[in-house]
Amino acid sequence: MHVVLGVAGGIAAYKAALLLRLLKESGHDVTVVPTASALRFVGEPTWAALSGRPVATDVWTDVHEVPHVRIGQSADLVIVAPATADLLAKAAAGLADDLLTNTLLTARCPVVLAPAMHTEMWEHPATQANVETLTSRGIHVVPPASGRLTGVDTGPGRMPEPVDLFAICQRELERGRTTEAAEPAPARRRDLAGLRIVVTAGGTREPIDPVRFLGNRSSGKQGIAIAAAAAERGAQVRLVLAHVDVEPPHGVEVARVSSALELQEATRAALEGADVLIMAAAVADFRPASVAQSKIKKSHDPGDPDAAPSIELVRNPDILAGIVRDRGDETRPVIVGFAAETGDDSGSVLELGRAKLLRKGCDLLVVNEVGVDKTFGLDENTVHILRRGEDDPIADVGPAGKDVIAHAVLDAVRDATAVSDTRRTPA
Ligand code: C5P
Repeated sequence: MHVVLGVAGGIAAYKAALLLRLLKESGHDVTVVPTASALRFVGEPTWAALSGRPVATDVWTDVHEVPHVRIGQSADLVIVAPATADLLAKAAAGLADDLLTNTLLTARCPVVLAPAMHTEMWEHPATQANVETLTSRGIHVVPPASGRLTGVDTGPGRMPEPVDLFAICQRELERGRTTEAAEPAPARRRDLAGLRIVVTAGGTREPIDPVRFLGNRSSGKQGIAIAAAAAERGAQVRLVLAHVDVEPPHGVEVARVSSALELQEATRAALEGADVLIMAAAVADFRPASVAQSKIKKSHDPGDPDAAPSIELVRNPDILAGIVRDRGDETRPVIVGFAAETGDDSGSVLELGRAKLLRKGCDLLVVNEVGVDKTFGLDENTVHILRRGEDDPIADVGPAGKDVIAHAVLDAVRDATAVSDTRRTPA
């Protein structure tokens, strides 16, 4: 595939060299189009050596080949990393005063922009309005990560790691392959901008002794997909993350926890000022009554070397139900619970879901069918979204990828926050 790697003038340009390497190693032809300012950070020889191609730097070189049109037209993917505030503004306005901006105007393939800048510049309404415009045109603007910026500053604005951008490139190339060339990119939504969303994800581990724990089979993939999709749709996301099989997404604030009690504390702290709580974590219902300070020996009973120890369990608090209780009559946060059900003699998956929604008192409940070979750790899922006070699900989704499910859950969240806003607005 032919990938155009645009590099704008920011310090994160050095990380684009690693992205270039990953793209090359996976067999893509890469044309690097640095801006004049980018070349002040990383010089032309670096791009030429790593890409194995001449570097296109301006519209006045090889004019007979019409590079300002040809490069964009022939691309299967254009990624700009880093994309500066200036580049975003130019792209949003449709300016074309150098080779990279010309390329963005002529490209008809998927376009990914990876902004990197100081927090103030990223959060400025002008930049946010430009992101909104670009997103509405179907361009994938990757939310910047939070962390160390140039100098001693930290905050949102850091370019995501090259390996994450590479994964996004691969996904977009796949999307480009399966979409008709003439079909315009679907508008991406920024409909959650302004919402502060707390997502919990992963499975808790309840310690038995320093080396053993009681755990569960949650991979955390669904909760992480929700956090990633919410950030992409403009929400400010805090992710309370128990044990997971996958890396958390960039563009979200992450608090790592292990046990149910830690998850409870971190979730309550994260909820300060939040509009929405999405409890996707698989929280253990029980924990050992006491945690041994040293490893429990195999022969722990001198009187009977073959005896197995008994572990007494106590109930963990129901975190979700507790937060619903404490919310009282307030309409925020909107609270979304999850229910993993297998269905049994006492009822179908949906019946058990309805009963759970009543018991927990949350606003929405996402019911999914689970079993040994269903849902846990897999990339496909089937869910029914129930709303408090209604018998029929408001959405039945799947079997579908966890990102499709994530967007369906967020659609329901968006509608529920709109309802809770109306309730708060005096007539
Ligand atoms: O009752 P059940 O465990 O099936 O409920 C699942 C929902 O409740 C999930 O949203 C889960 O995150 C939450 N939960 C909780 N505290 C517990 C157990 C589950 O908040 N102790």
